[in-house]
Amino acid sequence: MGGAVSSAPAVLFLFGEHAVVYDEPGLLCAIEKRTKVKTTLSEENSIKSSVGDLSYVEKSIEKTKEKINTNKPVSLTVESEIPVGAGLGSSAAVTVATIDSVSRALGEKFEKKQVAELAYQVEKDIQEDASRSQTFTSSIGGAVRIKNDEIKHVTLQKNPEIIVGYDGGNSPTGKMVADVAELKNSINQLDKIIDSIGDICLEGVKSIEKGDLKRVGKLMNINHGLLGAIGVSSSSLDDLVWTARDSGALGAKLTGAGGSGCIVVLCKNNCKNIELSLDEKADEVFRGKMSEGLKRLK
Ligand code: MEV
Repeated sequence: MGGAVSSAPAVLFLFGEHAVVYDEPGLLCAIEKRTKVKTTLSEENSIKSSVGDLSYVEKSIEKTKEKINTNKPVSLTVESEIPVGAGLGSSAAVTVATIDSVSRALGEKFEKKQVAELAYQVEKDIQEDASRSQTFTSSIGGAVRIKNDEIKHVTLQKNPEIIVGYDGGNSPTGKMVADVAELKNSINQLDKIIDSIGDICLEGVKSIEKGDLKRVGKLMNINHGLLGAIGVSSSSLDDLVWTARDSGALGAKLTGAGGSGCIVVLCKNNCKNIELSLDEKADEVFRGKMSEGLKRLK
């Protein structure tokens, strides 16, 4: 029996994480690090996975079967290149790839947007507060501007050169989102900061569409400062951000939920130098090559 194999990419935020949870816009980009899921029909349910936390895979199987109204047992193999809980949408990628692979193995092929929407429901069940941003970007790929359920591909004049630096740690998204909500409930001024992250994102979209990467970099730096103000940066992320800036990056910021994990760096001509400087401090450094979304491999 052949089975269905699907793969979905990691995603990073150029602008807007956390603010997207409060209906502000975000600009995201799918990158070439992927999670692959193979599903076969079998005698009983089983999951073999290189990813420790199986909650997203299990919930995805449950929701997919519910949607197509079946309870047939399936056997899954999950392989991932994406660090978990590090700001690169590992849970979105595994959720998107699982839903697509399981549904096709069970004889149903969803549109990519339907996969993304179901994946969002899975994230929402597990995290309580979640946005559609990462599941949609992972499913449809490329650079995507998202505000609630308005999703638009962004056409780039120049392909930005992106480096990702990983501090080796991870933070649960649900907890980081809950921490921001708590601060927001106790400090009124947080609303203005979240609005400003949304404004900076819109400026960032305009600048990237015009190909003004210098301005994009400056706006990324401001976005990082605002994320620090809402309490989601950390000394290890700040250290990587400043290492990249001191080596000449156009801009650098954390990506994803923060706390610990990855930064995203925009560079031009001097990317090699920046990579070498980051190599001395980071656990892992790699190029963020823009990628297509969900792939149906078999
Ligand atoms: C998490 O990687 C990104 C957040 O904006 C949460 C979400 O969008 O669901 C913090």
